[in-house]
Amino acid sequence: MMPAVGKSIWMDGRLVDFDDARVHVLNHTLHYGVGVFEGIRAYATPEGPAIFRLPEHVRRLLTSARIYRMPLAWDAEAIARAIVETQAANAIVPSYIRPLVYRGEPALGVKNSTGKVSLAIAAIPAKKYLGDGSEKGVRAKISPYRKPRSDAMPSYAKACGNYLTSYLAGIDAQQDGYEEAILLDSNGYVAEGTGENLFVVRGETLYTPGLESDILLGITRESVLRIAEDLGYPVVPKLVSVNELLTADEAFFTGTYAELAPIREVGHQAIGTSVPGPVTRRIMAVFSKAVRGEEPKYASWLTRVPALAAAPAPRPARR
Ligand SMILES: Cc1ncc(COP(=O)(O)O)c(C=O)c1O
Repeated sequence: MMPAVGKSIWMDGRLVDFDDARVHVLNHTLHYGVGVFEGIRAYATPEGPAIFRLPEHVRRLLTSARIYRMPLAWDAEAIARAIVETQAANAIVPSYIRPLVYRGEPALGVKNSTGKVSLAIAAIPAKKYLGDGSEKGVRAKISPYRKPRSDAMPSYAKACGNYLTSYLAGIDAQQDGYEEAILLDSNGYVAEGTGENLFVVRGETLYTPGLESDILLGITRESVLRIAEDLGYPVVPKLVSVNELLTADEAFFTGTYAELAPIREVGHQAIGTSVPGPVTRRIMAVFSKAVRGEEPKYASWLTRVPALAAAPAPRPARR
């Protein structure tokens, strides 16, 4: 029997029905936040559905898992295959794919690191994360919550616990009527959004915070660096001060969920002319074509998803 659309979740090697994708309430990840995950997108392309930068996402997932000492039973190739299988089984395009590495068995005690390490992969319909802002520009506020230093919480791991700060910053911004928060690093330099990296544009030069600001090294950020260079714009990863952001000609967020989203206001200050600027628009246009397989130069960034027939039917979860 074919799985219902959007209803299959890959768990430790098998596709299970959405309602059977359960874990124990005393699991280690739920209590201590020790889990790592990815956010990946699949797009419709002229050659069928394709996953954007799959090997890079798998590599980052494995790096995150290594940092948190969560040895996985699958190598990069097997994880990539499982992600393709999950995408094919759910047949949702565009989709947002969420692999999660976790310890799902009951295990209280923070130092308890011996439990079984599991992998789950879901594919859900992709939405516009920042709503209308993705096109006309986002209103963001500088958050009172700062990024933790990487010697406390390594920012190069995409770990569940890291999102406590993003959560606090995000709901604070929302409650104040903004669409997104901009977090500073512990030294007061601009770091990133709750789930996005950030670029500022001055003239035709792009500046973006780097690892020294305790950011997640975004795969969209890296794609934008490449596109900008290919378009002939100089790109300079560096510390970015709040003043540099507020006086920029243009600024934008990058992220898998947010894609590219211009920033039109920070606090009550307009950025540039408060409409998406020419450099942002040009990069957005190329990015949008690249993810949809309409830019041959970036064809290697896409992994084709074969037809659904390749995917097995869901089976009940093993308990
Ligand atoms: C905190 C944070 N920064 C940046 C990003 C952007 O990373 P990517 O472009 O790989 O999605 C994300 C999203 O994963 C994120 O959660």
